[in-house]
Amino acid sequence: MKKIRKAVIPVAGMGTRFLPVTKSVAKEMLPIVNKPTLHYIIEEAVQSGIEEILLITNPYKKVIEDYFDQSYELEHRLEEKGKTDELTLVKEISNMARIYTIRQGEPLGSGHAVLLAKNFVGDEPFVVMYGDDLMKCERPALQQLIDVYEKHDASVIGTMKVTEDVVERYGILELEDEKTGKLKTMVEKPKREEAPSLFAGLGRYIVKPEIFSVLEQLKRGVGNEYQFSDAMKELMKKEPFYMCEIDGTYYDTGSQFGYLKANIDFALQREDLKEQVLEHMKQIIEEEK
Ligand code: UTP
Repeated sequence: MKKIRKAVIPVAGMGTRFLPVTKSVAKEMLPIVNKPTLHYIIEEAVQSGIEEILLITNPYKKVIEDYFDQSYELEHRLEEKGKTDELTLVKEISNMARIYTIRQGEPLGSGHAVLLAKNFVGDEPFVVMYGDDLMKCERPALQQLIDVYEKHDASVIGTMKVTEDVVERYGILELEDEKTGKLKTMVEKPKREEAPSLFAGLGRYIVKPEIFSVLEQLKRGVGNEYQFSDAMKELMKKEPFYMCEIDGTYYDTGSQFGYLKANIDFALQREDLKEQVLEHMKQIIEEEK
């Protein structure tokens, strides 16, 4: 079985749910407390043993390339001022992993974005992580997927159970075998009564390189875009896919409420902020009464 070494993170979407800020700021760069969402996602990849990362960015998201690059001027200034803690923090970012970027000229969909990674990936299974799907887990979410991959030597989709009222927002998994988690297919944004389960596919996938020949043949789907989920559905007809029920909390930081929730929860995890945040929340609740 081939080791999982490479991750592809598409971050070239338009972020329409987060306009107007996404007019000039990539949603993947919006901070959860003091670090961009994408920083946490790359940390998750590194903690899961990923060695090389390809970010699919776009011509308007240069800020992403800069963030993960070395910043000589800033480092020099921090050094001069004796700000050693801050210097370490900044230096760590460019040393996290080998990070490459490629640009998607037009936002033609997640499937179109992943296809651009074909040469980077070569002939090995790899990971796709969506740049706005944030996970807070004790064992890194991606590591949990890798565990399932290593058990079955097959493709894996990360999932969590959602409530009936939100199935319409997700790709919902249909199981072939409940015991092993083997998948039959996926239904994109089904109506409540048509959902085959409550397992929603979240932005963590492990796929075999055969996905690229499917992506090359792919037709446009929802929103007139090339959808990565459509390609996985197609490959599922020929190859086994398993689900990995992620143990942790999921935040869709591409939605405004998901983003706010992540900020509150991550702030409450910080010893230096927890008391102040709780005090502020108590005050608000009192005033609302
Ligand atoms: P989303 O559907 O969450 O991103 O795609 P979006 O299209 O930016 O969202 P809205 O609905 O307009 O707010 C999942 C991931 O795929 C990337 C996004 O940046 C996100 O991280 N993506 C999407 C691309 O890289 N290219 C695309 O053409 C579309």
